[in-house]
Amino acid sequence: MSTPVMHSADTNAFDIAWVREQFPSLTLQFNRHASAFLDGPAGTQVPKQVMDAVQYYFLGANANTYGAFLTSRRNDEMILSTRAAMADFFKCDPNEVVFGQNMTTITFALARAIGRELKAGDEIVVTTLDHDANVAPWRALEEKGVVIRQVDIRESDCTLDLDDLKRKITAKTKLVAVGYASNMVGTINPVAEITKLAHAAGALMFIDAVHFAPHGLIDVKALDCDFLVCSPYKFFGPHMGTLYGKREHLERFKPYKVRPATNTSPECWETGTQVQELIAGIGAAVDYLAELGRHCDPSVKSRREALQAAYRATHRYETGLLTRLIAGLQTLPGLRIFGIIDAKRFDERCSTLSFRLGDYNPTKIATFLGERGIFTWDGNFYALSLSERLGVEQHGGVLRVGLVHYNTAEEVDRLLAALREFITT
Ligand SMILES: Cc1ncc(COP(=O)(O)O)c(C=O)c1O
Repeated sequence: MSTPVMHSADTNAFDIAWVREQFPSLTLQFNRHASAFLDGPAGTQVPKQVMDAVQYYFLGANANTYGAFLTSRRNDEMILSTRAAMADFFKCDPNEVVFGQNMTTITFALARAIGRELKAGDEIVVTTLDHDANVAPWRALEEKGVVIRQVDIRESDCTLDLDDLKRKITAKTKLVAVGYASNMVGTINPVAEITKLAHAAGALMFIDAVHFAPHGLIDVKALDCDFLVCSPYKFFGPHMGTLYGKREHLERFKPYKVRPATNTSPECWETGTQVQELIAGIGAAVDYLAELGRHCDPSVKSRREALQAAYRATHRYETGLLTRLIAGLQTLPGLRIFGIIDAKRFDERCSTLSFRLGDYNPTKIATFLGERGIFTWDGNFYALSLSERLGVEQHGGVLRVGLVHYNTAEEVDRLLAALREFITT
């Protein structure tokens, strides 16, 4: 079966050669194959700007905070400038940005702090579509008698069942925790609409944007959410987590902290010494995206406008790759894609795709691909409820292909060819 030809307009405008030059690790060879990094949903590669920023930190700014000497002052300035970069990324104020070890740790800490104000019988709404890091921290509050309501999905297209969601949000609901995009099937949830429903019931809205962040521009003011988390290592930065919180909430809720540490927000939420060298890398990741935006549209002025231009371009480019991938996969016998496959609905999904191929164990396929330099993930990726709901959990889960803006049409074709080879061997 021949591979479908992608419409040239989908990729022509995007300077993929420039993009790939920014990412030194993309030249890695394995078994005499070029590496195809289709593993982005578990962590993306980083541009050299990020590596340089981490090195620069160690060379000239390596000290703890608030000392009366050069390197400490540089460290303080670097943290402020990264807060400003993340504020542009989220579209909020710098003092609404919190750094932490990763999304999971931040969410457990926030849930514990919010839990201080909850009582038995209060309710929290979570979903079956979510990564467990947006379920387990809220479920931990069951110990206090908090009731957790879990919203189901529509299995046919792996979207949230909004009728079920509306039924589960009631006057008892104190918080609604929903993912922006599914890290398994790529579904993008209508989080702005869900935020309105949560607020109408008097509940807080918490959004897990970890999977959305590499694919779409976040605007917390437009969403009007109360909290939103994402992890820079999924959007071309280092292994850390970041939280946006409305200032009033960050000031009102009380985090667990040591006594000598400041009570001032947002720093009171940043327990202990942060991984400061990686905070430097986060700022560089945002600046890389802005540089990409300026490369795509030299007329942009502010960093926020540059980020908008970057995401406009990467969204178009990734949609082209996704179209090619889905068309190719549909030619493979016995292959079942989970989630939205109708091109007219691609605005409701991002370019992360999971499938099963007959009864083959996904680990076997991932291993076969890995030997050919094609890096994909198999399993449930901690989207445990979804894997169970789709009935694949006991069969090794699914095979996940993640396309980000440094991937190429040629890599998609290599993947499709390798899958054809897998089927015939
Ligand atoms: C959608 C989603 N939420 C949360 C997480 C957990 O993020 P972290 O590794 O930063 O704790 C992940 C990680 O894969 C994810 O994909």
